[in-house]
Amino acid sequence: MMSDLRAAPCHASAYLARAAVTAPSPYNTQPWTFVAEDEDRGIEVHVDGARRLPLNDPSGREMVISCGAALLNIRLAMRHLGFNPVVEHFPRPPDPSFLARVTWGAYQPPTPEDERLFGALRRRHTAHGPFLAEPLPPSLTDDLREHARRARATLDFLTDRAGRRHLAELVRIAEDVRRSRPEYAAEQRRWTWWPGEPRCDGIPADADVTHPDVTDFPGRDYAGLTRMFPTPSQRRPARTGPVAILSTDRDDPAAWLRAGEALQRILLEAADHGVMAAFHTQPLEVPSLRVRIRQTLSGGAFPQMIFRLGYPALVQPLPRRPLAEVLRVAGAGLA
Ligand SMILES: Cc1cc2nc3c(=O)[nH]c(=O)nc-3n(C[C@H](O)[C@H](O)[C@H](O)COP(=O)(O)O)c2cc1C
Repeated sequence: MMSDLRAAPCHASAYLARAAVTAPSPYNTQPWTFVAEDEDRGIEVHVDGARRLPLNDPSGREMVISCGAALLNIRLAMRHLGFNPVVEHFPRPPDPSFLARVTWGAYQPPTPEDERLFGALRRRHTAHGPFLAEPLPPSLTDDLREHARRARATLDFLTDRAGRRHLAELVRIAEDVRRSRPEYAAEQRRWTWWPGEPRCDGIPADADVTHPDVTDFPGRDYAGLTRMFPTPSQRRPARTGPVAILSTDRDDPAAWLRAGEALQRILLEAADHGVMAAFHTQPLEVPSLRVRIRQTLSGGAFPQMIFRLGYPALVQPLPRRPLAEVLRVAGAGLA
């Protein structure tokens, strides 16, 4: 599908948008709109505020991170086609929802690295639950740290046991709030569906087939398993995998966008090795817990994402909204 450049009137923008929408987003909300500028001169990335999670993400931070990941995908798709992307961040400052414009720069054949990352776009998926016992390639965590640094973000792996335990405890506190408060449960229900429902966004309740408390880091309870089954006594700490915090030196929409680009770069590099991420961002959605993580675990930098890495036993590709819903042509309606 991605190779059919004649599929739509703004066919180059359609190609870029198809790559963009493979990005991750909380609850698979897909909070983005793309605009094809005159005759494919460029593509705009806008955040779609109607898809914000009012309780979990009141500031829209996670929405902008998701759009940052989509922006990196657009850059990679342009490189795949042999052009250098020219990116303008926040091109119209009075409009904070207009996050970026990407236009076509000089022709330069894609490098093997460009092709490797572009190839990983469709292989990357979010993991849930325990990983396989296999260790990660020895240099991978160092490489990922370096990719984060080049993207002007910081990736810290929690190597000491006390730090890991502390973070696991904060994830537990935040997740307990989500499970016990009806308003959080309602927000989650809005974005969770059962197999058979005709949805192109949100998460199927059976995305995580294991009990969400089976590793040291509690997962979101999409299927309500914790209400039906007690917490397993036999946890699988060895299958939790390395745990990392991605952070930035500032905490504004520009930093969130940058964090999203860094995140996607890291996820694609890992996916190229068959390694996937399981996310545990619950405590970053509770201001007091986010402050504690900043003060005790991320060296004063602003924590933007928390994830574990490993080889998943199973991943489930999730649906995406059709292009006609997310791509507009400048001055007209949806493509
Ligand atoms: C900012 C952000 C926060 C996320 N937080 C979580 C999380 O706490 N738990 C989780 O299971 N997935 C989390 N995810 C991953 C999404 O659930 C996932 O991207 C979405 O369901 C689409 O699936 P895919 O990544 O496999 O394409 C997060 C993603 C983003 C971008």
